[in-house]
Amino acid sequence: MSLLSTRINLDAISHNVRLLKDLVGPDVRLMCVVKADAYGHGVERVAPVMLKAGADVLGCATVDEAVALRKLGIDAPLVAWMWEPQQDLSDALSSDIVIGVPSLAHAQTLVEIEVPVKVVIKVETGMHRNGVDRQLWDEVFALLADAPHIEVTGLMSHLACADEPENPHTDVQAAEFREAIARAREMGLECPINHLANSPATLSRKDLHFDQVRVGLASYGLEPIAGVEHGLQPAMTWAANIVNVKPIKQGESSCYVLTWTAPADGYLAVVPVGYADGLPRSVQGSLNVTIGGKSYPQVGRVSMDQIVVDLGENPFGVQADDEAIIFGEGGQSATELADAIGTINYEVVCRPTGRTKRIYEGGIDL
Ligand SMILES: Cc1ncc(COP(=O)(O)O)c(C=O)c1O
Repeated sequence: MSLLSTRINLDAISHNVRLLKDLVGPDVRLMCVVKADAYGHGVERVAPVMLKAGADVLGCATVDEAVALRKLGIDAPLVAWMWEPQQDLSDALSSDIVIGVPSLAHAQTLVEIEVPVKVVIKVETGMHRNGVDRQLWDEVFALLADAPHIEVTGLMSHLACADEPENPHTDVQAAEFREAIARAREMGLECPINHLANSPATLSRKDLHFDQVRVGLASYGLEPIAGVEHGLQPAMTWAANIVNVKPIKQGESSCYVLTWTAPADGYLAVVPVGYADGLPRSVQGSLNVTIGGKSYPQVGRVSMDQIVVDLGENPFGVQADDEAIIFGEGGQSATELADAIGTINYEVVCRPTGRTKRIYEGGIDL
Protein backbone atom coordinates (compact mmCIF):
# COMPACT_ATOMS: atom_id res chain seq x y z
CA MET A 1 0.00 0.00 0.00
CA SER A 2 1.15 3.49 -0.74
CA LEU A 3 0.36 6.43 1.52
CA LEU A 4 0.18 8.85 -1.39
CA SER A 5 -0.79 7.90 -4.92
CA THR A 6 -2.10 9.04 -8.24
CA ARG A 7 -4.58 6.53 -9.60
CA ILE A 8 -4.49 6.59 -13.40
CA ASN A 9 -7.57 5.20 -15.10
CA LEU A 10 -6.36 3.84 -18.43
CA ASP A 11 -9.92 3.12 -19.57
CA ALA A 12 -10.64 6.84 -19.23
CA ILE A 13 -7.66 7.57 -21.50
CA SER A 14 -8.99 5.06 -24.07
CA HIS A 15 -12.45 6.62 -23.88
CA ASN A 16 -11.07 10.12 -24.44
CA VAL A 17 -8.84 9.14 -27.34
CA ARG A 18 -11.68 7.25 -29.06
CA LEU A 19 -13.95 10.25 -28.57
CA LEU A 20 -11.31 12.57 -30.06
CA LYS A 21 -10.65 10.24 -33.00
CA ASP A 22 -14.39 10.11 -33.75
CA LEU A 23 -14.55 13.89 -33.52
CA VAL A 24 -11.73 14.57 -35.98
CA GLY A 25 -12.82 11.84 -38.38
CA PRO A 26 -10.81 9.52 -40.62
CA ASP A 27 -9.20 12.23 -42.75
CA VAL A 28 -7.43 14.04 -39.91
CA ARG A 29 -4.56 12.43 -38.02
CA LEU A 30 -4.84 12.50 -34.25
CA MET A 31 -1.62 13.35 -32.43
CA CYS A 32 -1.79 12.73 -28.70
CA VAL A 33 0.68 14.94 -26.89
CA VAL A 34 2.60 12.95 -24.28
CA LYS A 35 5.22 15.49 -23.23
CA ALA A 36 6.10 15.91 -19.55
CA ASP A 37 5.60 12.19 -18.84
CA ALA A 38 2.15 12.28 -20.43
CA TYR A 39 1.08 15.34 -18.44
CA GLY A 40 2.05 13.52 -15.24
CA HIS A 41 0.11 10.34 -16.09
CA GLY A 42 3.18 8.21 -16.93
CA VAL A 43 4.06 7.91 -20.60
CA GLU A 44 5.22 4.31 -20.48
CA ARG A 45 1.74 3.00 -19.62
CA VAL A 46 -0.31 5.72 -21.26
CA ALA A 47 1.28 5.83 -24.75
CA PRO A 48 0.38 2.23 -25.74
CA VAL A 49 -3.20 2.80 -24.56
CA MET A 50 -3.49 5.93 -26.67
CA LEU A 51 -2.16 4.17 -29.76
CA LYS A 52 -4.51 1.25 -29.28
CA ALA A 53 -7.46 3.64 -28.87
CA GLY A 54 -6.79 5.42 -32.15
CA ALA A 55 -3.97 7.94 -31.81
CA ASP A 56 -2.05 8.11 -35.10
CA VAL A 57 0.98 10.02 -33.83
CA LEU A 58 2.54 10.90 -30.46
CA GLY A 59 3.86 14.38 -29.77
CA CYS A 60 6.70 15.26 -27.42
CA ALA A 61 8.23 18.56 -26.47
CA THR A 62 11.90 17.53 -26.26
CA VAL A 63 13.65 15.19 -28.67
CA ASP A 64 14.95 13.31 -25.62
CA GLU A 65 11.36 12.48 -24.68
CA ALA A 66 10.80 11.08 -28.18
CA VAL A 67 14.02 9.04 -28.10
CA ALA A 68 12.94 7.60 -24.75
CA LEU A 69 9.64 6.50 -26.31
CA ARG A 70 11.51 4.65 -29.06
CA LYS A 71 13.63 2.96 -26.41
CA LEU A 72 10.38 1.79 -24.79
CA GLY A 73 9.55 0.05 -28.05
CA ILE A 74 6.97 2.52 -29.35
CA ASP A 75 7.12 2.30 -33.16
CA ALA A 76 4.36 4.82 -33.98
CA PRO A 77 5.15 8.13 -35.71
CA LEU A 78 6.72 10.58 -33.24
CA VAL A 79 7.15 14.33 -33.43
CA ALA A 80 9.32 16.49 -31.10
CA TRP A 81 9.70 20.24 -31.34
CA MET A 82 12.11 21.28 -28.57
CA TRP A 83 15.88 21.08 -28.95
CA GLU A 84 18.84 23.41 -29.13
CA PRO A 85 20.94 23.79 -32.24
CA GLN A 86 24.13 22.78 -30.34
CA GLN A 87 22.56 19.55 -29.09
CA ASP A 88 23.84 16.09 -30.08
CA LEU A 89 20.98 14.79 -32.22
CA SER A 90 22.49 11.44 -33.17
CA ASP A 91 19.99 9.35 -31.16
CA ALA A 92 17.06 11.33 -32.53
CA LEU A 93 18.34 11.09 -36.10
CA SER A 94 18.61 7.33 -35.88
CA SER A 95 15.18 6.96 -34.29
CA ASP A 96 12.90 8.12 -37.12
CA ILE A 97 11.54 11.13 -35.23
CA VAL A 98 9.95 14.09 -37.01
CA ILE A 99 11.89 17.04 -35.65
CA GLY A 100 10.41 20.51 -35.29
CA VAL A 101 12.35 23.41 -36.81
CA PRO A 102 11.50 26.63 -34.94
CA SER A 103 14.26 28.95 -36.20
CA LEU A 104 16.78 29.59 -38.96
CA ALA A 105 19.58 28.32 -36.69
CA HIS A 106 17.75 25.02 -36.20
CA ALA A 107 17.26 24.69 -39.96
CA GLN A 108 20.94 25.43 -40.61
CA THR A 109 21.99 22.78 -38.08
CA LEU A 110 19.97 20.07 -39.81
CA VAL A 111 21.18 21.13 -43.24
CA GLU A 112 24.82 20.95 -42.09
CA ILE A 113 24.46 17.55 -40.39
CA GLU A 114 23.60 15.97 -43.75
CA VAL A 115 21.82 13.00 -42.17
CA PRO A 116 18.40 12.06 -43.59
CA VAL A 117 15.67 13.51 -41.40
CA LYS A 118 11.97 14.35 -41.50
CA VAL A 119 11.05 17.77 -40.16
CA VAL A 120 8.04 19.94 -39.45
CA ILE A 121 8.64 23.68 -39.67
CA LYS A 122 7.23 25.53 -36.67
CA VAL A 123 6.12 28.93 -37.91
CA GLU A 124 5.40 32.05 -35.89
CA THR A 125 1.78 33.10 -36.39
CA GLY A 126 1.13 35.33 -33.38
CA MET A 127 2.02 33.57 -30.15
CA HIS A 128 5.53 35.03 -30.17
CA ARG A 129 7.06 32.16 -28.24
CA ASN A 130 8.90 29.72 -30.49
CA GLY A 131 8.63 29.62 -34.27
CA VAL A 132 10.20 30.91 -37.49
CA ASP A 133 9.39 34.61 -37.82
CA ARG A 134 7.52 35.68 -40.96
CA GLN A 135 10.47 37.64 -42.34
CA LEU A 136 12.53 34.43 -42.26
CA TRP A 137 9.92 32.09 -43.74
CA ASP A 138 11.31 32.35 -47.28
CA GLU A 139 14.90 31.79 -46.18
CA VAL A 140 14.03 28.75 -44.06
CA PHE A 141 11.67 27.29 -46.67
CA ALA A 142 14.31 27.69 -49.40
CA LEU A 143 17.09 26.24 -47.24
CA LEU A 144 15.09 23.13 -46.38
CA ALA A 145 13.66 22.72 -49.89
CA ASP A 146 17.21 22.66 -51.28
CA ALA A 147 18.51 20.05 -48.83
CA PRO A 148 18.09 16.62 -50.44
CA HIS A 149 18.47 14.79 -47.11
CA ILE A 150 15.60 16.72 -45.48
CA GLU A 151 11.95 15.80 -45.92
CA VAL A 152 9.57 18.55 -44.84
CA THR A 153 6.37 16.86 -43.66
CA GLY A 154 4.55 20.16 -43.21
CA LEU A 155 4.12 23.20 -41.02
CA MET A 156 2.94 23.59 -37.45
CA SER A 157 2.13 26.53 -35.22
CA HIS A 158 0.66 26.94 -31.75
CA LEU A 159 -2.44 28.93 -30.76
CA ALA A 160 -2.21 31.42 -27.91
CA CYS A 161 -5.90 31.94 -27.13
CA ALA A 162 -7.89 28.90 -28.29
CA ASP A 163 -9.23 28.33 -24.78
CA GLU A 164 -11.16 31.60 -25.22
CA PRO A 165 -13.46 30.70 -28.15
CA GLU A 166 -14.56 34.31 -28.65
CA ASN A 167 -11.01 35.62 -28.88
CA PRO A 168 -10.41 36.91 -32.44
CA HIS A 169 -6.67 36.24 -32.17
CA THR A 170 -7.25 32.58 -33.10
CA ASP A 171 -8.53 33.63 -36.53
CA VAL A 172 -5.60 36.01 -36.95
CA GLN A 173 -3.22 33.11 -36.28
CA ALA A 174 -5.16 30.75 -38.55
CA ALA A 175 -5.01 33.24 -41.43
CA GLU A 176 -1.27 33.66 -40.91
CA PHE A 177 -0.84 29.85 -40.81
CA ARG A 178 -2.72 29.46 -44.12
CA GLU A 179 -0.45 32.09 -45.67
CA ALA A 180 2.61 30.23 -44.43
CA ILE A 181 1.39 26.97 -45.98
CA ALA A 182 0.63 28.70 -49.29
CA ARG A 183 4.06 30.36 -49.32
CA ALA A 184 5.87 27.10 -48.49
CA ARG A 185 4.05 25.35 -51.33
CA GLU A 186 4.92 28.17 -53.75
CA MET A 187 8.54 27.59 -52.79
CA GLY A 188 8.36 23.92 -53.66
CA LEU A 189 7.55 22.29 -50.33
CA GLU A 190 4.59 19.92 -50.59
CA CYS A 191 3.64 20.18 -46.92
CA PRO A 192 1.21 17.26 -46.76
CA ILE A 193 0.75 17.29 -42.96
CA ASN A 194 0.05 20.67 -41.35
CA HIS A 195 -1.18 21.17 -37.81
CA LEU A 196 -2.34 24.04 -35.65
CA ALA A 197 -5.06 22.83 -33.27
CA ASN A 198 -4.42 22.03 -29.60
CA SER A 199 -7.18 20.61 -27.34
CA PRO A 200 -9.43 23.67 -27.22
CA ALA A 201 -9.22 24.27 -30.97
CA THR A 202 -9.73 20.56 -31.71
CA LEU A 203 -12.89 20.54 -29.61
CA SER A 204 -14.31 23.89 -30.71
CA ARG A 205 -12.93 24.68 -34.19
CA LYS A 206 -13.36 21.86 -36.70
CA ASP A 207 -12.37 24.36 -39.39
CA LEU A 208 -8.87 24.51 -37.88
CA HIS A 209 -8.09 20.79 -37.87
CA PHE A 210 -6.01 20.95 -41.07
CA ASP A 211 -4.31 17.55 -41.67
CA GLN A 212 -3.54 16.70 -38.04
CA VAL A 213 -4.49 17.91 -34.56
CA ARG A 214 -2.21 17.95 -31.51
CA VAL A 215 -4.25 17.07 -28.43
CA GLY A 216 -2.79 16.94 -24.96
CA LEU A 217 -5.11 17.95 -22.13
CA ALA A 218 -8.33 16.49 -23.58
CA SER A 219 -6.69 13.05 -23.96
CA TYR A 220 -6.33 13.00 -20.19
CA GLY A 221 -10.02 13.86 -19.77
CA LEU A 222 -9.77 17.50 -18.79
CA GLU A 223 -11.77 20.23 -20.43
CA PRO A 224 -9.70 23.09 -21.85
CA ILE A 225 -12.54 25.61 -22.22
CA ALA A 226 -14.16 26.84 -19.01
CA GLY A 227 -17.81 25.81 -18.72
CA VAL A 228 -17.91 23.59 -21.83
CA GLU A 229 -18.30 19.80 -21.50
CA HIS A 230 -17.55 17.23 -24.20
CA GLY A 231 -18.03 13.94 -22.33
CA LEU A 232 -14.35 13.49 -21.49
CA GLN A 233 -13.39 11.34 -18.50
CA PRO A 234 -10.64 12.62 -16.18
CA ALA A 235 -7.98 9.92 -15.82
CA MET A 236 -6.11 11.04 -12.70
CA THR A 237 -7.02 10.97 -9.00
CA TRP A 238 -4.55 12.16 -6.36
CA ALA A 239 -5.25 10.61 -2.96
CA ALA A 240 -3.54 9.96 0.37
CA ASN A 241 -4.29 7.75 3.36
CA ILE A 242 -4.79 9.68 6.58
CA VAL A 243 -1.99 8.92 9.04
CA ASN A 244 -3.55 10.33 12.21
CA VAL A 245 -6.76 11.79 13.61
CA LYS A 246 -6.29 13.82 16.80
CA PRO A 247 -8.28 16.17 18.96
CA ILE A 248 -7.70 19.91 19.20
CA LYS A 249 -9.22 22.27 21.72
CA GLN A 250 -10.85 25.62 21.01
CA GLY A 251 -8.12 28.28 20.96
CA GLU A 252 -5.27 25.86 20.15
CA SER A 253 -3.39 26.50 16.94
CA SER A 254 -1.87 24.16 14.35
CA CYS A 255 1.19 23.84 12.08
CA TYR A 256 4.11 26.19 11.46
CA VAL A 257 3.73 29.70 12.83
CA LEU A 258 0.33 28.69 14.25
CA THR A 259 -1.54 30.53 11.51
CA TRP A 260 -4.83 28.67 12.17
CA THR A 261 -6.63 28.48 15.51
CA ALA A 262 -9.44 26.03 16.24
CA PRO A 263 -12.73 27.94 16.58
CA ALA A 264 -14.18 25.11 18.74
CA ASP A 265 -13.17 21.77 20.21
CA GLY A 266 -12.80 19.29 17.38
CA TYR A 267 -10.54 16.95 15.45
CA LEU A 268 -7.77 17.25 12.89
CA ALA A 269 -6.78 14.70 10.25
CA VAL A 270 -3.13 14.52 9.20
CA VAL A 271 -2.75 13.86 5.46
CA PRO A 272 0.72 12.82 4.19
CA VAL A 273 1.13 15.21 1.29
CA GLY A 274 3.24 18.36 1.29
CA TYR A 275 5.12 20.73 -0.89
CA ALA A 276 7.84 18.12 -1.50
CA ASP A 277 5.12 16.07 -3.17
CA GLY A 278 4.03 18.94 -5.39
CA LEU A 279 1.25 20.47 -3.31
CA PRO A 280 2.01 24.19 -3.51
CA ARG A 281 2.49 25.87 -0.14
CA SER A 282 0.39 28.72 -1.51
CA VAL A 283 -2.79 26.58 -1.44
CA GLN A 284 -3.17 27.33 2.27
CA GLY A 285 -6.67 28.68 2.81
CA SER A 286 -8.01 27.54 -0.60
CA LEU A 287 -7.72 23.76 -0.49
CA ASN A 288 -10.48 21.33 0.42
CA VAL A 289 -9.99 17.57 0.49
CA THR A 290 -12.72 14.95 0.30
CA ILE A 291 -12.95 12.12 2.82
CA GLY A 292 -15.81 9.63 2.62
CA GLY A 293 -17.62 11.88 0.15
CA LYS A 294 -17.50 14.95 2.44
CA SER A 295 -15.38 18.01 1.84
CA TYR A 296 -13.10 19.36 4.61
CA PRO A 297 -10.87 22.45 4.63
CA GLN A 298 -7.10 22.16 4.86
CA VAL A 299 -5.96 24.49 7.64
CA GLY A 300 -2.65 26.07 8.64
CA ARG A 301 0.60 25.98 6.71
CA VAL A 302 1.35 23.31 4.12
CA SER A 303 4.47 21.49 5.40
CA MET A 304 7.06 19.63 3.36
CA ASP A 305 5.41 16.25 4.04
CA GLN A 306 1.95 16.84 5.45
CA ILE A 307 -1.14 18.94 5.73
CA VAL A 308 -3.79 19.11 8.41
CA VAL A 309 -7.51 19.02 7.69
CA ASP A 310 -10.19 20.38 10.02
CA LEU A 311 -12.78 17.67 10.68
CA GLY A 312 -14.83 19.86 13.01
CA GLU A 313 -16.58 17.56 15.50
CA ASN A 314 -15.85 14.67 13.11
CA PRO A 315 -19.54 13.78 12.69
CA PHE A 316 -18.80 11.09 10.09
CA GLY A 317 -16.16 9.30 12.15
CA VAL A 318 -13.11 9.88 9.93
CA GLN A 319 -10.28 7.57 11.04
CA ALA A 320 -6.61 6.95 10.33
CA ASP A 321 -6.17 5.05 7.06
CA ASP A 322 -9.30 6.60 5.48
CA GLU A 323 -8.60 8.00 2.06
CA ALA A 324 -8.39 11.76 1.50
CA ILE A 325 -8.88 12.81 -2.11
CA ILE A 326 -6.98 15.90 -3.15
CA PHE A 327 -8.53 15.87 -6.61
CA GLY A 328 -10.16 13.37 -8.92
CA GLU A 329 -12.82 10.70 -8.76
CA GLY A 330 -14.91 11.02 -5.61
CA GLY A 331 -13.52 14.47 -4.82
CA GLN A 332 -13.19 17.87 -6.40
CA SER A 333 -12.05 17.83 -10.01
CA ALA A 334 -8.62 18.97 -11.12
CA THR A 335 -10.37 21.93 -12.73
CA GLU A 336 -12.20 22.85 -9.51
CA LEU A 337 -8.94 22.62 -7.58
CA ALA A 338 -7.20 24.75 -10.20
CA ASP A 339 -9.91 27.41 -9.94
CA ALA A 340 -9.68 27.36 -6.14
CA ILE A 341 -5.92 27.81 -6.01
CA GLY A 342 -5.58 30.22 -8.93
CA THR A 343 -4.03 28.04 -11.61
CA ILE A 344 -5.10 25.84 -14.56
CA ASN A 345 -5.95 22.13 -14.70
CA TYR A 346 -2.86 21.55 -16.88
CA GLU A 347 -0.65 22.50 -13.94
CA VAL A 348 -2.69 20.55 -11.39
CA VAL A 349 -2.16 17.17 -13.11
CA CYS A 350 1.56 17.87 -13.56
CA ARG A 351 1.94 18.59 -9.83
CA PRO A 352 1.92 15.20 -8.07
CA THR A 353 5.53 14.22 -7.53
CA GLY A 354 7.86 13.44 -4.63
CA ARG A 355 6.62 10.36 -2.79
CA THR A 356 3.51 9.96 -4.93
CA LYS A 357 3.27 6.44 -6.41
CA ARG A 358 1.33 5.82 -9.61
CA ILE A 359 -1.28 3.08 -9.56
CA TYR A 360 -2.84 2.07 -12.86
CA GLU A 361 -6.41 0.90 -13.26
CA GLY A 362 -8.11 -0.55 -16.34
CA GLY A 363 -6.42 -1.06 -19.68
CA ILE A 364 -6.41 -4.82 -19.15
CA ASP A 365 -7.33 -5.61 -22.76
CA LEU A 366 -3.91 -4.36 -23.91
C1 LIG B 1 3.23 22.83 -29.50
C2 LIG B 1 2.13 22.21 -28.71
N1 LIG B 1 1.14 21.59 -29.34
C3 LIG B 1 0.12 21.02 -28.68
C4 LIG B 1 0.06 21.07 -27.30
C5 LIG B 1 -1.11 20.44 -26.59
O1 LIG B 1 -1.92 21.41 -26.00
P1 LIG B 1 -3.23 20.97 -25.23
O2 LIG B 1 -2.78 20.27 -24.01
O3 LIG B 1 -3.97 22.23 -24.98
O4 LIG B 1 -3.98 20.06 -26.13
C6 LIG B 1 1.06 21.73 -26.60
C7 LIG B 1 0.99 21.85 -25.14
O5 LIG B 1 1.12 22.88 -24.56
C8 LIG B 1 2.13 22.31 -27.31
O6 LIG B 1 3.14 22.94 -26.70
